[in-house]
Amino acid sequence: WSEMAGKRGALIVLEGVDRAGKTTQCSKLVQALQQSGRPAEMMRFPDRTTTIGQLIGAYLENKSDLEDHTVHLLFSANRWEMVPLMKKKLEQGITLVVDRYAFSGVAFTSAKPGFRLDWCMQPDVGLPKPDLVMFLQLNPAEAALRGQFGQERYETSVFQRTVQQRFEQLMKDQTVNWQVIDAAQNIENVHKDITAHSLNAINKAQNLPLGELWS
Ligand code: TMP
Ligand code: MG
Repeated sequence: WSEMAGKRGALIVLEGVDRAGKTTQCSKLVQALQQSGRPAEMMRFPDRTTTIGQLIGAYLENKSDLEDHTVHLLFSANRWEMVPLMKKKLEQGITLVVDRYAFSGVAFTSAKPGFRLDWCMQPDVGLPKPDLVMFLQLNPAEAALRGQFGQERYETSVFQRTVQQRFEQLMKDQTVNWQVIDAAQNIENVHKDITAHSLNAINKAQNLPLGELWS
């Protein structure tokens, strides 16, 4: 990107347990950025449209079973296969707003018995490093008020509680720009918080090279 005259876009990630409002907030953020004249696009992981993503989708919908290490590596591969496109867009000055990333990858797999955090992190080492990761914080009681879980794998309150603990471990990492957002607020106030952090990150990222995650 350094040869380019223009400023790069920022890589912004939203994380959180299920029903925290990630998808809603990602689209509201992209819309707000675009309306203020800042090029922005949304991405999501898993991206179920690719060949690898279809394997993941079938697994999540309980239509297939995959060995736990294997599916972890497929989630990671599903991010790596998008890296050339992500870098190209960032270089073009487009800010990417991403619904889940490697942090979900680590939090969900390491919530399974027998998986260590460091083993889970390894395949994602070197991915484009987010300029900002916002964790939408919602306690289980508030999440329960938002309705029942769906039918997909991992959508049980016992598992999600362990996932939350793993996210808390990941948030201790000072090399990542974590910001905790109170997702119990109404949609507009959550959006305001997210927009403020994002504008700050976009301004800073313009003059910095894209980093490598966990390396
Ligand atoms: P979604 O509901 O946002 O489409 O995510 C699908 C599920 O996949 C969700 O329960 C979180 C889980 N997941 C992983 O287990 N590993 C990953 O790397 C990612 C991105 C998601
Ligand atoms: Mg889901």
